[in-house]
Amino acid sequence: MTVSHTRQESQESQEDQGDQESLGNREIAEQPAAKVLRPHAEDAFAAELAALAAHDDRPRPERWRLSPWAVSLYLLGGTLPDGTVISPKYIGPRRIVEVAVTTLATDRALLLLGVPGTAKTWVSEHLAAAVSGDSTLLVQGTAGTPEEAIRYGWNYAQLLAHGPSRAALVPSPVMRAMSEGLTARVEELTRIPADVQDSLITILSEKTLPVPELGEEVQAVGGFNVIATANDRDRGVNDLSSALRRRFNTVVLPLPATPEAEVDIVSRRVDQLGRSLGLPVESDGMSEIRRVVTVFRELRDGVTADGRTKLKSPSGTLSTAEAISVVTNGLALATHFGDGVLRPGDVAAGILGAVVRDPAADRVIWQEYVETVVRERDGWKDFYRACREVTA
Ligand SMILES: Nc1ncnc2c1ncn2[C@@H]1O[C@H](COP(=O)(O)OP(=O)(O)OP(=O)(O)O)[C@@H](O)[C@H]1O
Ligand SMILES: [Mg+2]
Repeated sequence: MTVSHTRQESQESQEDQGDQESLGNREIAEQPAAKVLRPHAEDAFAAELAALAAHDDRPRPERWRLSPWAVSLYLLGGTLPDGTVISPKYIGPRRIVEVAVTTLATDRALLLLGVPGTAKTWVSEHLAAAVSGDSTLLVQGTAGTPEEAIRYGWNYAQLLAHGPSRAALVPSPVMRAMSEGLTARVEELTRIPADVQDSLITILSEKTLPVPELGEEVQAVGGFNVIATANDRDRGVNDLSSALRRRFNTVVLPLPATPEAEVDIVSRRVDQLGRSLGLPVESDGMSEIRRVVTVFRELRDGVTADGRTKLKSPSGTLSTAEAISVVTNGLALATHFGDGVLRPGDVAAGILGAVVRDPAADRVIWQEYVETVVRERDGWKDFYRACREVTA
């Protein structure tokens, strides 16, 4: 599945052909295996998943790798009796995760709904990894998603040569999940055109996918379910037909309730991302993380943290996900061009980029914020100077 795997295989097949002395082959053998940039959740957290499976003696629904209890422990984090620490993936209300996991064990599909950057995609990937051990059965929803992406397509060379047959059929990720009893993921469901969305209705209610060309059908086996995500800012959930909506249990992922929770999410994710990018992650970046989160929350809420000053909100979403990327970029700046310590100057440009999406209106809002709030705040002098520098 990974690059190193494929390399090894191609190397073996070349060795079979007996040309292992060729330069190309030696080069392949000497190169260290390339690191995958972003491993799938089931690979990145394979050790945690294995430890959970070893300790999990609760009943598991058909074809589930873990019990619902263990899946929710995997998402929320905790410590196993032998001391193995399970890192939290989702930071938020426990009940949300429990409802989401339980839904997957019923005959209803799961719809994760929320404003941008509330971890819908992230939670969906980890749920599929923990339940099915495979988060890759993914349909990316766009305005151009065709029906074949949800049902099946054809290998046209095969089709023309031999006519319709099982061998010529190209199953969609959803069809594969049905026949193998796995979790399929549909990203951005509400961006998919209505008639294509409707092809999910029979799949979810009848648990069957007819293939009229072959006079056959694929019936879903135990373990099959669908996790869809939808963003309620881009286009509303109203774009989901009511017939389809009835097939889903909707779970709304909220924005982090408190500044502390948001700082916790950002620092954990920056720590993980920093490690995978080879950036040294020091805990002394906390004050800048706190500052980014404060600025984002105040502008998002339209009021300062002390509730005293009303603010105008800019057009951007200023989500937790954006705060994570502002801090990660700042860390890269500090590492490559500074002394490795995250400072106000490293995050100011990133914040400006996230806030000022509309060059005219947002710039005025930002300047007003800098002059009325940032300038007056105790301990924010360096940040004020950095903001003035990047805004000028
Ligand atoms: N409550 C949270 N707990 C853990 N991580 C979070 C939380 N909120 C946001 N994140 C982080 O934010 C990042 C972005 O999340 P993700 O891409 O899943 O958002 P999304 O809701 O799918 O956004 P979009 O609507 O833009 O697709 C992820 O790296 C995730 O770890
Ligand atoms: Mg998403």
